[in-house]
Amino acid sequence: MTAIPSERAVPATVASAVEYLPGHFCENGTGGGSPLGLLPRQAPQPRPLWPAWPRETYGLTVPPGGTPVPVSGEILLHRHALSCIFMHTVTVRAAVAGANGYAGMTLVNLLARHPGVELAQLTSRSFAGQRYRTVFPLLELEGTFSEAADASAVDVVFSCLPHGVGAASAAGWLEAGARVIDMSADFRLRDVGAYPSWYRQEHPAPELLGEAVLGLPELHEPAIERARLVAVPGCHSTAAILGLAPAVASGLVGGDVVVDSKTGVSGAGRSPSPSVHFAEVAETVHAYSIGGHRHSPELLQELGALADGTPPRVTLVTHLVPMIRGILVTCYFDLVGSVSELRDAYAEFYAGQPFTRLLDQTPTTKLTSHTNLCLVNVAAQGDKAVVTAAIDNLVKGASGQGVECFNIAFGFTRTAALEGPLQWP
Ligand SMILES: NC(=O)c1ccc[n+]([C@@H]2O[C@H](COP(=O)([O-])OP(=O)(O)OC[C@H]3O[C@@H](n4cnc5c(N)ncnc54)[C@H](OP(=O)(O)O)[C@@H]3O)[C@@H](O)[C@H]2O)c1
Repeated sequence: MTAIPSERAVPATVASAVEYLPGHFCENGTGGGSPLGLLPRQAPQPRPLWPAWPRETYGLTVPPGGTPVPVSGEILLHRHALSCIFMHTVTVRAAVAGANGYAGMTLVNLLARHPGVELAQLTSRSFAGQRYRTVFPLLELEGTFSEAADASAVDVVFSCLPHGVGAASAAGWLEAGARVIDMSADFRLRDVGAYPSWYRQEHPAPELLGEAVLGLPELHEPAIERARLVAVPGCHSTAAILGLAPAVASGLVGGDVVVDSKTGVSGAGRSPSPSVHFAEVAETVHAYSIGGHRHSPELLQELGALADGTPPRVTLVTHLVPMIRGILVTCYFDLVGSVSELRDAYAEFYAGQPFTRLLDQTPTTKLTSHTNLCLVNVAAQGDKAVVTAAIDNLVKGASGQGVECFNIAFGFTRTAALEGPLQWP
């Protein structure tokens, strides 16, 4: 009998439960080359997705709080095959809160092409009552924007609201039975005391911080599978964490780290302000948040976890450059060992990851533009390591990563809706 991978604990979702289906399979996975044969003994019901799912219908033994055990002698169905079955049998009803902002619009464009999603509600205060097509003229979406999400009528709420706003509604959304994937900074920090000092306001729902899972699949995929509340990391921090994680985890960082991060203007959102006025940002570059950027605590939190509690000291300096989208981080640190050891550590760490890839050349933001890719180059100048990582701030740095987390949490293939470029903005 094929063993259940140890990191996969109790499946709390339809998707996870389906993953443990005993059956045949296929491709390069656990089951070997047998044909796709054994479907669930009872066809999956489209809803509800959370919290209950009749796992016993799949021939599983699931002790309370324990690990599911497939029926002896049967072969676990490969995850990808199950995802394919799932994608063709279940439609997840989704709400996007803040659908007319940059993160929200990106999300709507992604979910509109997702084979397992019905875009059930889009919210915006300024477009409330207006047709979706007012904002999305190229998408075949019928309906009108509502002021706020009704979580009792959906399976998942994607929150693309400013920090502090979505957090005030999150508890209600969860109580109504929806899972929540939040693009804002509200649930990223595990330290309850850190939020007021970085965001200059009390946290609207501190009781939820303990259960929130950081939505960075390269580090937290098993936890994302089970999470009710996913907090997608920030754009600078996504690029910086992915640029540094393998080096920190393998002990190859010899001292302080400097992260120089550059972002396009869409990182500031769609609302006009003097700091993003064309005349202020075109043909010029400047650093900002020199005294400390809000993404620093999430970066240190994640690097600390990879370094057994003590992160390296990090200086993060962010820059605004005159481009619409993209993040490029350049990370400098003293190299322990050789650059080839460092490259091996990155290759091993990201082996099998669908979106984070190593390049032999330094990445450009343009290569990642409108995609969910994170492109990483590992190099050195003398004994100083120089790692560069590029992402699209609105896709891997926000909504694409949100969809990636959704795919994991609901059992779709991780790349569903994330292949092929996006239009907006
Ligand atoms: N832009 C990025 O690159 C990026 C990257 C990572 C994470 N994020 C995060 O994603 C979230 C959205 O960012 P964004 O760039 O999309 O911002 P945005 O373009 O300014 O959009 C903000 C959205 O929130 C709504 N909104 C604003 N104030 C509100 C309020 N008080 N109550 C209810 N709704 C409100 C707006 O619509 P109405 O005013 O019509 O209601 C709009 O839909 C933020 O938390 C941001 O930090 C953004």
